[in-house]
Amino acid sequence: MASIPLQQADIREVAVVGLGTMGSGIAEILARSGRSVVVTEVNHDALARGLATLHASLDKAVARGRLTAADKAMVVARIRAADNLAAGAAAADLVIEAVPERMELKRAVFGELDLACRPDTILATNTSSLSVTALAASIRHPNRVAGLHFFNPAPVMKLVEVVSTVLTAPGTSEALAGLVRALGKTPVQVSDRAGFVVNPLLLAYLNHAVCLLEAGHATSEDIDKAATSGVGLPMGPLALLDLIGLDTSLSTLEALQAEFGGSRFTPAPLLRRLAEAGLTGRKAGRGFYEYQHQSVHAARADDPIHHAASQPPARVLLIENGAATPAADLTSAITAAGIEVVRPPAGGADLVLVAASPARRVLDAALASGRPADAVGIHLVGPHGAGPALAELIVTHLTKASVTAAAAALAAKLGLDPVTARDRPGFLTAALTYPHLNDAATMVQDGYATAADIDTAMMLGCGYPRGPLEMLDDISPAVVLRVLTAMHASSGDPAFAPAPLLAEHAAAGTRFRG
Ligand code: CAA
Repeated sequence: MASIPLQQADIREVAVVGLGTMGSGIAEILARSGRSVVVTEVNHDALARGLATLHASLDKAVARGRLTAADKAMVVARIRAADNLAAGAAAADLVIEAVPERMELKRAVFGELDLACRPDTILATNTSSLSVTALAASIRHPNRVAGLHFFNPAPVMKLVEVVSTVLTAPGTSEALAGLVRALGKTPVQVSDRAGFVVNPLLLAYLNHAVCLLEAGHATSEDIDKAATSGVGLPMGPLALLDLIGLDTSLSTLEALQAEFGGSRFTPAPLLRRLAEAGLTGRKAGRGFYEYQHQSVHAARADDPIHHAASQPPARVLLIENGAATPAADLTSAITAAGIEVVRPPAGGADLVLVAASPARRVLDAALASGRPADAVGIHLVGPHGAGPALAELIVTHLTKASVTAAAAALAAKLGLDPVTARDRPGFLTAALTYPHLNDAATMVQDGYATAADIDTAMMLGCGYPRGPLEMLDDISPAVVLRVLTAMHASSGDPAFAPAPLLAEHAAAGTRFRG
C-alpha cells in the first residue's frame, strides 16, 4: 500500500547518510535550522573527519560573527552520530543519502533504509548524476523517493535541485521544496535526467577547461583568469574542479556521458589521471593547484613567458584584423601609456601588434605584416558592463618568446592583466565559455528547462553574476554563433556545432531572455 508523504512542517528529525564534503555541509544547514540531525558514516575515521569538517565550518561562522558561540553549542547539541545506518534512520522523518557517487553503494543504502525506516519517511538522494528513478524503483514505497541536490559549499550556495521521478508522489517533492525554502534556499523542481540542470552545463565546461590545459592552449592560471577577470565568474574552472573534487567530477562526467554520449562529457585524460593518482583537489591538498599553509599555487610548471621580465616596447606597429576593440581605441590607450604607435606601411617598430578578433586567425595578419616572428595578437576582454580587465595575447607558432614577453609588459603598462593563448578560434575567454553558452542554448532547445530557470540555477548554484543565457544575449547570439562556427570548422569537433536555436536567434536578431 502506498504511504502518505509527510508535509514540510513534519520534517523535524533528519538522518544524513555519509559525512563527506556534501554530507557534513547538509548536516550543518539542517542543524542550524533547528532540526535534529543524526549522522552515519561507514567507519569511525570517516565519521571523525566529517564531524571535524562540520565543526571547522561552524567555527568559521563564529569567527566571522555569523553565529554566536552559544548558538554554535546549540547547533552541535542537535547533531548526534549513530553507530549504524538502521539505528540512525529508524526515527527519521527524512533521510538524505550523501554517500560517494557509486550506484551499488547507493542501492545498498536504500535497501537498508527500506527495511529500517517508517513507510512515510521521505528518502532523498543527493546524487549529482545517477538515476533517482533506479534507486526509487529498487525499494518499496518509491513514491517517497526524490533527489535533493545541494551545491558545494552547501552552507553557502542557495540552489537545491528537487528531482522528481515518474514514481514520486507530488506531496514528496512539495514537502522537499518547502523544506528547501525553510532552509533559506531556492528549490528548482526538475525531472530525473542525468545531472539535472546544473551539472550537464557545469561539468562539460569544467572538462573543456581541462582539455584546453592539456592541449597546452593556456596555463591553468590563465584559464582561470579568463573565467574570473574575463567573465566575472566567482572561481576559475580548474579551481572549481579542485573544490568539487576531481574524483566526484570524474564520476559525474562518466554518468553524463553514459546518458547523453558525445565528446563534451568524455573525461579529459588529465582529469582521470589526477583522480587516479589521488590528487583529487583541495581535500587531498593537491589537484590542479597545491594547497599548503593557506597558500595556493599552480601544481604544473607555468608558461615561461610569465616569468620572463621584459620591458614594454618603445614603438609598436599596429595592424587591424577585424578586432572587437577598434585599432583607434587601442592606439589611444597605447599612446597614453607613452608608447609610440605606427600603422602600416611604417617600419622600425619592436613589436607587431595585431588587433585581433576571436573568429579570425592572427597568423594571416602576422604573415601579411612580413614579420610574423615579431607579431602577437591582442584582444581585450572583461565582464559585461565593466571595462576590459584582461589582454589576451595570441601567439602563433612563429611568435618569438621575447616578443610575447614584451607584449605582456605592454599590457601591464596599460593596466591590463596579460594572459596568453594559442592562435585558435575563440582565443581564450570565448574558446572556454562560448561552448558553455551553446550548451545552455541546447538545453532550452531540448525543452528540459526554460532560459529563466537555467539562469537562476547557474546563478544560485554556482554563483554566476548573470546566467549563461543572459550572458549569451548580452554578447549577442550572432557573435557567439560566428565564433562557435569558426571553432567547429577548425576543430571538426561536433561538440562545438552551434545549437539550431542559437542560429535562429542570431538570424532573427532575437534574444533568449525576451
Ligand atoms: N563552508 C562553509 N562556508 C563557506 C565555505 C565552506 N566550505 N566556503 C566559503 N564559505 C563562506 C565564508 O565563510 C563566507 O561567509 P560569510 O560571508 O558569512 O563570511 C562566504 O562563504 C564567502 O566566502 P569567502 O569570502 O571565503 O570566499 P569567496 O567570496 O571567494 O566565496 C565561494 C567562496 C562561495 C565558494 C565562491 O567562490 C563561489 O560561489 N564559487 C562557486 C562555487 C560553485 O560553483 N559551487 C557549485 C559546484 S557544483 C556542485 O557542487 C554540484 C555537483 O554535483 C558537482
